[in-house]
Amino acid sequence: MGSRADASRRWLARFSLPAIATLVLLPFLWKLDGQSHADWQQLIGRFHPLAVHLPIGMLLLIPLLEIRGLSHPALREAAGFILGLSVLATLGTVALGYLLAYGSGTTGVTVTYHMWGGISLAIGVLVCFLIRPGWVAGEFPLGYPISLACVLLLLLWTCHQGGSLTHGENYLTEWLPDELKTWAGIKNEPVKEQLVADSFYALQIRPILDANCYSCHSQTKVKGGLRLDSYARLMRGGRSGAVIVPGRPDQSSLFKRITLPPDDKKFMPSDGKPPLKPEQIAWIKAWIAAGASDAATTVAGVTLRRKPVSLRPVGDYSGLANQIAELEKTQSISLVPVSRNSGDGLILQTISGGRKFNDAQLAQLAKFGPYIVEAKLGHTSVTDACFDTLATFTNLRALHLEDTAITGQGLAKLNSLSQLTYLNLTGTKVTGASVAVLASMKNLEHVYLYNTAAQPAAPPAKGTPKL
Ligand code: HEC
Repeated sequence: MGSRADASRRWLARFSLPAIATLVLLPFLWKLDGQSHADWQQLIGRFHPLAVHLPIGMLLLIPLLEIRGLSHPALREAAGFILGLSVLATLGTVALGYLLAYGSGTTGVTVTYHMWGGISLAIGVLVCFLIRPGWVAGEFPLGYPISLACVLLLLLWTCHQGGSLTHGENYLTEWLPDELKTWAGIKNEPVKEQLVADSFYALQIRPILDANCYSCHSQTKVKGGLRLDSYARLMRGGRSGAVIVPGRPDQSSLFKRITLPPDDKKFMPSDGKPPLKPEQIAWIKAWIAAGASDAATTVAGVTLRRKPVSLRPVGDYSGLANQIAELEKTQSISLVPVSRNSGDGLILQTISGGRKFNDAQLAQLAKFGPYIVEAKLGHTSVTDACFDTLATFTNLRALHLEDTAITGQGLAKLNSLSQLTYLNLTGTKVTGASVAVLASMKNLEHVYLYNTAAQPAAPPAKGTPKL
């Protein structure tokens, strides 16, 4: 009996050494080079996430069987049998996993951790299998239990790395209470690179790459040797070199790939993911053409809508309700609440007033001025004198002066209106010079100059970049 056990152990030892050597040498013989290889490798490799559950289940069962087996010899025998099976299952799973990474050309720190975890695990299970007969014979009472415990810890860690690859880095810890996260040293947010906060790159380019490319081109998973999750890495490029040539979108492989026909093998984002939107492609093109800087705040040819200003709430006008009602009766104008929330202010409408409405009537509204957020003075008889009154409408956000006798004299008085975002001067006598005084108004987004001397030759459409 003893000699038969010895013989099988010797046979196992002979089989194990080459097995361990192969496992350790695998990543060096077939290096994960970031290139995708034969299709069959990926085809088979994709069974890895499924197959992996088999060795996990078996390995977790072994300690239970061993403990029960102390009093039930049949279960102890079963433990040995299952351990043998789990050697094969672990080796098979590692092979599938390696095929998956090698075949698809996936690299990255988490891939590397997971790979070495799997390889060490296979070696650990093999070692357990080798030393178990000695433990059963009572030779080494501690070696096997300790090895098995290590294998189980390693199993836990390797599974976690694998989970991070499929579900994302913080899948397990995402919903952990903040106190526990602090205690465990887990940061809520991965460390981000220092960005020039209002640069075109930070505001426009990075979010596009983040939403469409990071799943395959960031720290956890690196396809094609390319990482896009920092400016430095983006500029460094992938396995075939730089992907961005500043100033030359046509020579930048990143730009070329996002503009290929979606069914092209080299199209990005790959794997049937939705193509970038035309304006996103246009922004990337304009950004590369302008030098692909991480600091520039504007890019030639692109006019972007600025982030909406946070509007200051308007004071409560409810105390003036009676006076407003009175005014509306006598002046044939209306002051319409924007919403039921008085903080949202009033809209001054002159529609029924029309041409009868003039500067003098506007001046009478001074009392309501601070509550008016929008003044619809188009097609009325107001003149440049209206700016004196309007300058006191401190919460004014939109001002319509289209088709009035305005010439732009005194337009500078509007400079005090910090909330003004919209100004319509269509069809008035304003000139380029008179409008230029508004250049310093940071929040003024929409200025309409159609049919005026100040009208730009070819007005750039807001938000739509020119290609
Ligand atoms: C589903 C995974 C996936 C997504 C998403 C993805 N890529 Fe790729 N990318 C790959 C793979 C795989 C390769 C390597 C094979 C190849 O060259 O086609 C690659 C290679 C590249 C390369 C070539 C790198 C080099 O040096 O050879 C560029 C450039 C690139 N991707 C850009 C992008 C951009 C930009 C996005 C987002 C708009 C994106 N990718 C999204 C999988 C992806």
